[in-house]
Amino acid sequence: MILFRRVLLAAMAMLITAPIFAQGEMGAEAQNAVLITGSNRGIGFEFVKQYSDLGWLVIATTRNPDSAEELNAYAADHDNVVVERLDLLDHEGIDALAAKYKDQPIDVLLNNAGLMKGPEKSQMVGTIDYDEFIRTYRINVMGPLKVSEAFYPNVKKSDHKLMAALTTGKGKRGIPVPGFSLYKTSKASLDAMQLEIALRWTRQGLRVVTLLPGRVLTHGETDAGGTNAIPIEESVAGMIKVMDEFPIELTGTTVQWDGELIQ
Ligand SMILES: NC(=O)c1ccc[n+]([C@@H]2O[C@H](COP(=O)([O-])OP(=O)(O)OC[C@H]3O[C@@H](n4cnc5c(N)ncnc54)[C@H](OP(=O)(O)O)[C@@H]3O)[C@@H](O)[C@H]2O)c1
Repeated sequence: MILFRRVLLAAMAMLITAPIFAQGEMGAEAQNAVLITGSNRGIGFEFVKQYSDLGWLVIATTRNPDSAEELNAYAADHDNVVVERLDLLDHEGIDALAAKYKDQPIDVLLNNAGLMKGPEKSQMVGTIDYDEFIRTYRINVMGPLKVSEAFYPNVKKSDHKLMAALTTGKGKRGIPVPGFSLYKTSKASLDAMQLEIALRWTRQGLRVVTLLPGRVLTHGETDAGGTNAIPIEESVAGMIKVMDEFPIELTGTTVQWDGELIQ
């Protein structure tokens, strides 16, 4: 946390000619835009609500808009929220959505969606289900990469130029029990892929951050393990702040919801 703040201050001083915009300081003419995957529930839906409250145009994507009742009801009440279909397994569909929005700058591309489950035998070494292995990697690694490739031109032409993805586990200190191997290793691959994206596009002015939301109880769990769960509103507000302040010098790194830089 302290390290991140120190680096942030130094970076902000260096960026005196290219200031990072605070929300609401963009001028009346430009409406910031965010595209969020997995918007229909959990952390994704909370991102929709908080970015909508900030006055951003929210392109709220979900793999099945027809059954996204809460999201559709929310969008019906909020002019700045539009619901679109995006399935991470459907690359043609992703390209078609990018073509539909080809003239729309996207300030923040938020790869939130993921297959998050376990513990289960199919993810346990000794009884790995290899079909599930492929499906998990297609959703958690190839999907976000395809979204980043498809919407790169939109991000490049925006003011904020930020690509983010949600990961899990503090580096090597991931979920410390068996039964989550596909989830954990797919997210480790996502982390590595984020670094590749940063290597490729930081010279074009893009900022690439991988976000750690903390433990957020999105599946109806109770906090039986103790006190380490974070209220969803707090986690999402923290991640929005991290993205808003994220300096290009830190591109490719992972930052927790509260600003702690993860090494
Ligand atoms: N909650 C936590 O404690 C925690 C901790 C660390 C990291 N994360 C990460 O944070 C992100 C959000 O977490 P969450 O708790 O909100 O997860 P969640 O409640 O399980 O929601 C997952 C979202 O991803 C969507 N999704 C799944 N497969 C998809 C596909 N093929 N195409 C498009 N969307 C798909 C789901 O859509 P459907 O409703 O259609 O299935 C849902 O909207 C995930 O990437 C997760 O790994 C969460």
